[in-house]
Amino acid sequence: MSVHHQGVPSLLERIATTMSGAIGRVRADLAGADPVVRRSERADFQCNAPLALAKRVGVKPRDLAADVVARLDLDADPVLASVEPSGPGFLNVTVTDRAVWAQVAARLADPRLGVGEPELGRKVVVDYSAPNIAKEMHVGHLRTTIIGDSLARVIGFLGADVLRQNHLGDFGTQFGMLIQYLDEHPDAAWHQDELGAGTSAVSALDGLYRAARAEFDADAGFADRARSRVVALQSGDPATVAVWQDIVAESERSFTAIYDRLGVLLTPEDSVGESFYNPMLADTVEELVEAGLAVESDGALVFYSQEVTGPEGRPVTLMVRKRDGGYGYDTTDLATIRYRLRELKATRLVYVTDSRQALHFQLVFEAARRAGWLTDGAGAEHAAYGTILGPDGTPFKTRSGGTVRLMDLLDDAVSRARAVVEEKNPDLDPAELDRIAESAGIAAVKYADLSTSRVKDYAFDVDRMVSFTGNTGVYLQYAHARISSILRLAGDPDVTVDPTVAPHPAERELALVLDGFGAVVTEVAATLEPHRLCGYLYELARAYTAFYDHCPVLKADEPVRGNRLALCRLTARTLGHGLGLLGITAPERM
Ligand code: ARG
Repeated sequence: MSVHHQGVPSLLERIATTMSGAIGRVRADLAGADPVVRRSERADFQCNAPLALAKRVGVKPRDLAADVVARLDLDADPVLASVEPSGPGFLNVTVTDRAVWAQVAARLADPRLGVGEPELGRKVVVDYSAPNIAKEMHVGHLRTTIIGDSLARVIGFLGADVLRQNHLGDFGTQFGMLIQYLDEHPDAAWHQDELGAGTSAVSALDGLYRAARAEFDADAGFADRARSRVVALQSGDPATVAVWQDIVAESERSFTAIYDRLGVLLTPEDSVGESFYNPMLADTVEELVEAGLAVESDGALVFYSQEVTGPEGRPVTLMVRKRDGGYGYDTTDLATIRYRLRELKATRLVYVTDSRQALHFQLVFEAARRAGWLTDGAGAEHAAYGTILGPDGTPFKTRSGGTVRLMDLLDDAVSRARAVVEEKNPDLDPAELDRIAESAGIAAVKYADLSTSRVKDYAFDVDRMVSFTGNTGVYLQYAHARISSILRLAGDPDVTVDPTVAPHPAERELALVLDGFGAVVTEVAATLEPHRLCGYLYELARAYTAFYDHCPVLKADEPVRGNRLALCRLTARTLGHGLGLLGITAPERM
């Protein structure tokens, strides 16, 4: 027997099951068809099946709708209050007051808030963040880090065994040059403990690499020594490898500082950089050659796509082995996908990178399919995202045109959040203000990113992000804190729900929005689109506000007060949990 947690089924799911049964009783040939039940403006729910299905069996939608209603036994149904044909062939569905409250009570008793574990038993790789060693993390790494982390959380919560993979760019000829330069400039400071708090090892290494590059171009002698150093690194010369390891470790410390500040799940244990696959490259290539998938072209080995063609029908390829015998980014990704499928036995691979790499991954996936690594039981998806733009609509840059350091961007967001929080709450003591500003500033940045549809570009507008109003992370945090304070004022009582009370329309609406939480979380995992959860949480916060405007909580008498406190508590939990799945904190006070 499976110990699969199904969660408390939602009202929508229960209605769908009932409607589907009735449809099957009307017409056996429609048994099992999607009953197309949705929330509705006109009633609580709407069932669109008659309209959607009538054509398939050659009947009139209205006739099918009437037949379905005739097959329902409303008196015996604990959920359905009324089901009425409407329009060209919809059914308007109203649920009983009792079912509304019973659902709130059941959700409150469910630690998973109605979210099942449909991913139990699956092994899912989420490849995200992947900054490059000895380089500062910049605005380009923000989206992969934030989106990937949210997807890892959501898919993990649905029961999958999630393998976070930080595919660090930790290999390449540039490190030979850098190591040679460090060797010749032993006084250069780049270890974090030799540097001040205001800077980082990667920032120092970034500068040293630039200096090395300049020397490489200017001094033929240095260029030669740097080239021999590349050979030394690749052939495993112990002294050279030791410096490289040191560079990797120091860089990781800088990345960890960013991850900690952003509150993402990545730890050094999730780092499986490009170099990890080096020992597998030759075998991977050999396997592709044997399968006829890597063929010679101009002294190199290339993979030709059968699915994609370039402009004027030109072939599109992956570079499997360069003419000089070297391997690059493409080969590493081929070895990586093979390893993840064969050795890690992952059943789903999610790659979170910007959309400019779409073709690269399309080809890697095609190669993996044709090589037989990616089989029908497994899937690989590129969760591609758009560019962060500056106020002028071009890619986000500093005022002087440089790349924006991620740490600076976060500092800026936090300081603007501090101004907004302080204005709203001038009496906060400084330590509390610091804490709230940090959490609001980070929430603002993360939410702004997650709430835009993933594939779209968006403009980085700090003032809008840190606002307490509108669809922002700060607004949702604040909504959560406000509800928490009401619950505190009520003394955080044990609440009991009285299902015989007729709900106010605003209570009913809030309860029905709460009912949709599990569905949206499942949808995020299926589509890899966290903005759906953002949209849901925003809708929830607004339904709560409407409820709070119409329905006094603390001043109400029992049993109404208990029911309202139950709605408050369930809303706070759902908001808090939903923000948590986005990787955003939900403080109790703001
Ligand atoms: N380090 C790469 C970059 O900065 C991203 C790596 C993404 N993952 C992968 N398996 N290729 O563009």
